[in-house]
Amino acid sequence: ATTLKDALKDYFYIGTALNVPQVAGQDPQAIEIVKTHFNSVVAENCMKMMYLQPEEGVFFWDEADAFIEFAEANDMQVIGHTLVWHSQAPRWMFVDENGDQVSRERLIERMKTHVQTVVERYKGRVHGWDVVNETILDDGSWRQSPWVRIIGPEFVQMAFEFAHEIDPDVELYYNDYSVSRPEKRDGIYNMVKDLIDNGVKIDAVGLQGHLSMDFPTVEMKEEALQKLASLGVKVMVTEMDITVLPWPSRRHSAEVSLNYEISDEYNPYPNGLSEESYTALMDKYVDFFEMFMRNKDIISRVTVWGVDDNQSWRNNWPIRGRTDYPLLFDRDYQPKSAVTRIIELA
Ligand code: XIL
Repeated sequence: ATTLKDALKDYFYIGTALNVPQVAGQDPQAIEIVKTHFNSVVAENCMKMMYLQPEEGVFFWDEADAFIEFAEANDMQVIGHTLVWHSQAPRWMFVDENGDQVSRERLIERMKTHVQTVVERYKGRVHGWDVVNETILDDGSWRQSPWVRIIGPEFVQMAFEFAHEIDPDVELYYNDYSVSRPEKRDGIYNMVKDLIDNGVKIDAVGLQGHLSMDFPTVEMKEEALQKLASLGVKVMVTEMDITVLPWPSRRHSAEVSLNYEISDEYNPYPNGLSEESYTALMDKYVDFFEMFMRNKDIISRVTVWGVDDNQSWRNNWPIRGRTDYPLLFDRDYQPKSAVTRIIELA
């Protein structure tokens, strides 16, 4: 095989996230890569709540429609991301007409309307939905988001049931980051177990996979994948990228957000990676994929969070304006050596 999707076809779907300019045809070289190497796509932003329903009852479909049409024209699996999340949710969702916190009853109604309108529109066209994103914290406790504070943890089960009611065939997922942390992994395990015990349809758990060079280890991630799969659901790696940049200290983040100056210490490779870092990064990618392939019976999909380094969100997260190298294709749209090595492994 010479492409990722051919090499991995007996293992799992290999996906990437697409942004609006790419779908609109403004980045043809990235699109060429997508058509060649990937067989699953997810929208990086345009299917999030604040974009789909910017005002109550006013839905904006153009970008999401275009994304799905692109996927269908190219025979790709479509993943919907994401129905209920605390982030990138519109401000109006949590307040009433007086500017006070919305009542529990009304928030449930709003959540239901959003979930069901969106799932209905793309019924039969989306393979699976990230129904709920990021509701468990690193210590395994519930994130005190408006969803949890106003509705309670049962919002999760409600969201899954609202989606299922409209499209009984679509796959339904829970998605989160840092799932390799044992406390978080176990918190998610318990939440998913409760859903299953309550008879809720949940098909898979997504582990985002925004990695750094020192966390998590392959072993930690493998343990998390296997523990969650032991519940009888599939597991997926849904947003993989690997940063080579140092994690900013809290104090540094505060300073940077005030003056937007990035010191060399935090942006060490503005003009290209050192050979040493490049090699370490490639090895890391290959080690993780080797582990994913070993676990093909439980892993249904591996998706990287973007096509090429140039447009990766990691250039701007967790601090803005850096030059990062987190993806499998470089700024000149060339495959990195890990691509060939992964293809050879398969
Ligand atoms: C990110 C996008 O990549 C950015 O463009 C956007 O500004 C913020 O969201 N977890 C998720 C993704 O589930 O939706 C996030 O995507 C990255 C973290």
